[in-house]
Amino acid sequence: MLLFALFMSARMGIFQEQLYGLYGKHPKEALFYNHALPLPAFLLLAGDIYRHCVLFNNSAPMALPLVGVMVPKMWLYLAGNILTQYVCIRSVFILTTECSSLTVTLVVTLRKFVSLIFSILYFKNPFTVYHWMGTSLVFIGTLIFTEIIPLGKKQKVQ
Ligand SMILES: *[C@@H]1O[C@H](CO)[C@@H](O)[C@H](O)[C@H]1NC(C)=O
Repeated sequence: MLLFALFMSARMGIFQEQLYGLYGKHPKEALFYNHALPLPAFLLLAGDIYRHCVLFNNSAPMALPLVGVMVPKMWLYLAGNILTQYVCIRSVFILTTECSSLTVTLVVTLRKFVSLIFSILYFKNPFTVYHWMGTSLVFIGTLIFTEIIPLGKKQKVQ
């Protein structure tokens, strides 16, 4: 699924680059439509979302920082996720106006990779041989991109 999403977002990045070229750079508008248009699709997942609300309600309570009110800890994690995700995606959309879509795809892939490592370290999820494979692919890809490993013809500097 991640692989499919990665290819899709890469294609979407190119599409967005073309759109910016045609109509000018409007990262806030792009951010809005990118997130508002798919909202109705979440109705298909309504049952699943409801089940997760029940699960979240039943998670262990945790004191809210500063205020001290007890809140089920999954809701806190969700709030943290939404906040950091907002900061992140907003920055990505600004980045799309400043860099090529290849750079943006690389940054987004690295970001996913860092989240994965964080989830493994913080939530103590298992690190399997597939994770090692993915890790090496990310590193090789990054090294090729930064031209530390030269691949193919170098462009001539004019
Ligand atoms: C979750 O808890 C809140 C607050 O106690 C309550 O209003 C809500 O109905 C609960 N939701 C579910 C799906 O149990």
